[in-house]
Formats: sequence, structure tokens, C-alpha cells
Amino acid sequence: MPYLLDKFQLKDLTLPNRLVMGPMTRAKATPEGVPTPIMATQYAQRASAGLIISEGTWPERCGQGYCDIPGIATQEQEDAWRTVTDAVHDKGGRIFLQMEHTGRVGHEVNNGGLQMVSSSSQPADFQIYTHEQGMIQMTTDVHALTTDEVHEVIDSYYKAAIRTKAAGFDGIELHGASGYLPHQFLSDVANTRDDEFGGTLYKRTEFLVQVLSKLIEAWGTSHRIGIKISPNIRFNGISEEDPDSTYAILLERLNELDLAYVAFKTPESLRSLSGPGNEDLADGEIWHRYPNEFIRERYQGTVIASGDLNQEYAQKALENDKTDLFVFGRDYMSNPDLVERMRYGWPVTPVDMRRAYGGGGAEVGNNDYPTYPEERAQAKAAEPEHKVS
Ligand SMILES: Cc1cc2nc3c(=O)[nH]c(=O)nc-3n(C[C@H](O)[C@H](O)[C@H](O)COP(=O)(O)O)c2cc1C
Repeated sequence: MPYLLDKFQLKDLTLPNRLVMGPMTRAKATPEGVPTPIMATQYAQRASAGLIISEGTWPERCGQGYCDIPGIATQEQEDAWRTVTDAVHDKGGRIFLQMEHTGRVGHEVNNGGLQMVSSSSQPADFQIYTHEQGMIQMTTDVHALTTDEVHEVIDSYYKAAIRTKAAGFDGIELHGASGYLPHQFLSDVANTRDDEFGGTLYKRTEFLVQVLSKLIEAWGTSHRIGIKISPNIRFNGISEEDPDSTYAILLERLNELDLAYVAFKTPESLRSLSGPGNEDLADGEIWHRYPNEFIRERYQGTVIASGDLNQEYAQKALENDKTDLFVFGRDYMSNPDLVERMRYGWPVTPVDMRRAYGGGGAEVGNNDYPTYPEERAQAKAAEPEHKVS
């Protein structure tokens, strides 16, 4: 019987367990996108995860939709990331960089005033946080990339991949999910092009495949390159009319690339589906409702699930051969020792989402969640002393 906390062979990389710390934007970089020392501490504290995926990181500045998120486009950023990867490796961990070009998702006040780009000129009907004005409508001044410009963007991914390798990462996850630039090419609603990157189902997958091919070329092997997708998700203003046809072709093409993995995010919440009104659904049936069935049937390699998992769901999905690896997002924010908590049956600390983002470089909400033994020691220290008379 496969076990969640047993090791897993991800191509040539041995993972000590099947837990993946999911990519999580925390907005703790400098305004210029340089990683800060507290980020190194945060990732190193979580090094017992089978694999860590970094927060979304931009390959070029106009792909920075949010404030204070890191990039991998300059020497300074590369050097700062090296301190992160060294810290993780010193603790025995493994870390991939998630490459995230936000495309039309964001606002130019967050990226130094650069015009944001997309497959087409339609804006995303969604809100974004800015330091200056709080939550505002995302940019409405979206530039539809010309064919030549698309090739330039693909080249920026290549250059960023060279830096990612030089910075000591173990691999790259292409962010193809959640309404960002690759998703803006995939979507039959967002992409209205009629060149080599749009107009047919197949051509809508072309941007992702060409970016992946460049990442593979930069790395020298496809075995350290993964991708995250989110079929049918409604987030960041993205929608898809016929996701099944799109993702069937995409997965067929991903098979040919022999990647490290395909990760996906569920469009709904497992925990909410298993809640009121669905009490009669067995866990297996709950999983049937999710894209992992669809992906498992079509994709021959390693599959990673994410979205509202807990140890029990993950173990069941593993036993039913639904998925190979399991992302824990919010639980990893609040439990640096999530692997040990699961191994020894220790309680999992709930996350405080009010402390998720930013904070002007503060450690609060980032590095100050204790391990369980630390939690016990703190509780013991707080106990009143009982003097024996
Ligand atoms: C604070 C926060 C930031 C996130 N940032 C990213 C990101 O940068 N890239 C990404 O692919 N997913 C991002 N996600 C989604 C997570 O990787 C994961 O898919 C999601 O949280 C579901 O897992 P969970 O239910 O275990 O939290 C983020 C989630 C949270 C909570």
C-alpha cells in the first residue's frame, strides 16, 4: 500500500515523501523584486517537505502584476535567490522555482509603470491590491502582443530559466494556471488571436508548449521542468467555454515533452464539497468530480493535486491511484514541520490568513509559526511553576 510519507522518485530526484509545499505568493520581496532574507528562512524551515515550489516569480518585469513579488530577471535577483536555495539545501531540502508571468493580471502601478500584455487586448475583470490605492480594477490598458513580441516573451522565459539554474534551484514549475499569461493563451474566451498562437484549439496550446520547450532547452533536460494548470477555474478574470477539449489536447502534447510532472488546482474546495448536503458522498466519489480523473486518464507522467487537501484525503487519493504527489498550501504556511506533524499524529495549526501577505518585510505570519516541539516547549514555559513545600 503506498503511503503519503514514503519516498517518491520524481525522475532523477528522490523525494523523501509525497508532500509538496505549494507555491505561495507572500509579497515579501523588495519593490524591485529582489528576494529578502526572511524568505530564505521561511523556505528553509519547511525543508522536510518532499518538494518545495517557490512563490510565483516573474521572468520579466512587465509580468509582475502584484507588488513586492520576486523576479528572476536580474543578477541581483539571481544572487538573492541563491541564498534561498542554499538555505533549503543546507537543511536537506529540494526547491523548484515557480515561473509566473501574470500577463494582463495586475496593474502597472505594481510593476514600475510598464504596460501589461496578453494574448488579446481584453482586460481581466478582477481586482488587484496596490499600495497606492488599495484594491482597484486590474489594468484596462492591455497590449495584445504581436507575433514577434510573443517570441520575445518566450525568450524572456528562456533567459530566466538560465538564471534559475544558476541560482541553484532544483527545477522549474511553469505557472500555466489561475488566469496568468499562459492561461490567457489557452483560454478560448481570453485568446482571440488568429496567428500561430490562436485561432484553433491546437494553436492555443502553442504558447505553453513553446515556453516549456525553451525551459527544457535552458535546463538541459525535461525531467526538472513541471507545469501547473487549473482547468475550468474562475479566477483572475479567466474563463473557459470548452475546457475539456482544450486540456485534452494540451495533455496529449505534454505527454510528448516527458516533463517532471503536471500539477493541477481543483476549481472547487474538497472540504466544502464534503460538507453540508454532500454527507452521503464517499471520498472516492468526491474525487470523481475533480479534474484529476480527467488528467490521470490522459497524462502518463506524475500528477500533483492541490486544493483543500488534508492527510486523510491525500492518503485515500493515493491508495486509489488518483494522484502521485500532494500540494499543501495554507497548512504549510502555519506548519513548518507539516511532515513530522502527519508522521507522529500531532495537531495541524490552522493558518491566520490575515497575516498571509506583505507586512513590510516583517517576519510575522511568515517565520514565526513554531514546530510542534517548539509549541509544546512554549506552552510548558508558560505554565505556572508548582513549588513543592
Ligand atoms: C497566500 C497564498 C498565495 C498563493 N500563491 C500562489 C502562487 O504564487 N502560485 C500558485 O500557483 N498558487 C498559489 N496559491 C495557491 C496554492 O499553491 C494552492 O494551490 C492553494 O492554496 C490550494 O491549496 P491549500 O488548499 O492546501 O491551501 C496561493 C495560495 C495562498 C493561500
